Amino acid sequence: RPYSRITGTGSYLPPRRVTNADLAAELAQRGVETSDQWIIERTGIRARHFAAADVTSSDLGAHAARHALEAAGVAASQIDLIIVATSTPDMVFPSAACILQNKLGIAGCAAFDVQAVCSGFVYALTVADAMIKAGAASKALVVGAEVFSRILDFNDRTTCVLFGDGAGAVVLEASDTPGILATDLHADGRHVGILCVPGTVSGGQVLGDPLLKMDGQAVFKLAVGVLEEAARATLAKAGRQEADIDWLIPHQANIRIMQGTAKKLKLPLDKLVVTVDQHGNTSAASIPLALDAAVRGGQVKKGDTLMLEGVGGGFTWGAVLLDF
Ligand code: ACO
Repeated sequence: RPYSRITGTGSYLPPRRVTNADLAAELAQRGVETSDQWIIERTGIRARHFAAADVTSSDLGAHAARHALEAAGVAASQIDLIIVATSTPDMVFPSAACILQNKLGIAGCAAFDVQAVCSGFVYALTVADAMIKAGAASKALVVGAEVFSRILDFNDRTTCVLFGDGAGAVVLEASDTPGILATDLHADGRHVGILCVPGTVSGGQVLGDPLLKMDGQAVFKLAVGVLEEAARATLAKAGRQEADIDWLIPHQANIRIMQGTAKKLKLPLDKLVVTVDQHGNTSAASIPLALDAAVRGGQVKKGDTLMLEGVGGGFTWGAVLLDF
């Protein structure tokens, strides 16, 4: 079977929904000032979900994975590869993928994490596609799962209003007909400092600052340009045109970056899948969360051509063009 194809999608949001007004009220108690209006105007975000303190990325990911397996009609025992994209794993090691595998009640198949921050899902899907095409796997579970609330500095209003927790998953199967048409991945480590969590664990202690730091304007400037390049590269590899794209499903970081990308690709805004308003930026989880919302909401239909695009810390970026 020469191709790989998505056969099921799933997602999960932790139940606690925090609106901008809720968050502004919580932050005010710390003396941090923000407003619903500022957050909506600059980012398009209206609400996000935060996981309870004892809930991990693998918990959220396992819920999303079960929904994707059900949608695909595949039993967990048939899965022969699990890749979890996350920057907020449960532990330093083992991987969230191994922990998630156990939560699904299976054992034996390959399982590992991919760390490419907000590009993580596009990276993980690319790796799964390559492994299936190489014959190393036939039914893969590809998950994006994050608890970004754990690494937010709630005294820094320029970052803590942007992110949320959640998970999304797809089942990717070997297929006789094309699904994934082209992929394109990049990184540029010169930009480590513009978006990072600089701390680490060493000698039994946290060394350095374990909270997210971001130069928002530097990220913004880089993001729109590289997203256009990655999209065009996949179209060229697949011999397709911009007009062939039925749905653009970019990483959900900021509505202005997303609309800027659609504009550069000459796509009408009604082809843009938007969940950032309800989810905030869920990093590696945002693309599979948006994909699943669009599938279950009846927007994305079988046979549609989808452009998935990620960009984030590293700096990393990439795109996956596929027939759904
Ligand atoms: N509430 C109220 N005021 C705020 C807040 C807040 N939450 N945050 C910042 N401000 C203030 C600033 O202090 C500043 O005030 P000043 O003019 O008195 O100094 C003013 O608002 C403007 O701040 P800027 O940083 O210039 O605002 P900008 O328009 O650049 O928007 C934002 C900031 C939303 C972070 C934007 O730069 C952005 O979206 N960047 C992209 C980054 C991103 O999306 N990152 C997500 C992670 S990366 C990824 O996923 C790709």
